Amino acid sequence: MNQRNIVLMGTPSLLQPSSPIECFDRALIELINELKFMKEQKGGVGIAAPQIGENKRIIFFGFEKNIRYPNEEPIPFTTLVNPEYEVLSNTLIPGWEGCLSVPNLRGLVDRYQKIRYWGYDEKGVRIERIAENFHARVIQHEVDHLDGILFPFKVKNLANFGFETALIERGYSIHG
Ligand code: NI
Repeated sequence: MNQRNIVLMGTPSLLQPSSPIECFDRALIELINELKFMKEQKGGVGIAAPQIGENKRIIFFGFEKNIRYPNEEPIPFTTLVNPEYEVLSNTLIPGWEGCLSVPNLRGLVDRYQKIRYWGYDEKGVRIERIAENFHARVIQHEVDHLDGILFPFKVKNLANFGFETALIERGYSIHG
């Protein structure tokens, strides 16, 4: 396994759109394994391939219990290749987000409350689900990475963007 680091905001490659996967081969499985390893090592709820330096349309997400978001319902561990979604409810919900590429910071971001998403697992088997609330938020955040969009770009009021420790002192519940 290659030694990888999380690519941090400010790196130009995070702003580039990622390419679709066309071949479900051994190299894809190895890349997905590296993505899973890095997500678990860093304790994220989700990760996108550009965050480990591969501008390819692959995301991995899911958790039983996550220390970064302790009050959220579990999401099944899922690999999605070439993920897409459609919006099922135009209701936008604000929520505090973080990102492994933007360490120690959180921002308040609006996301669609309900979506249908689909994609393929590492063997090319189609996965399709309906997701709401935090689950829907995670998918929207990760797919944004594949289009070169980071959550701070979507913080409407920069008064609602800052360091986790300072936000907690200000009385914000970043885990709400
Ligand atoms: Ni992220």
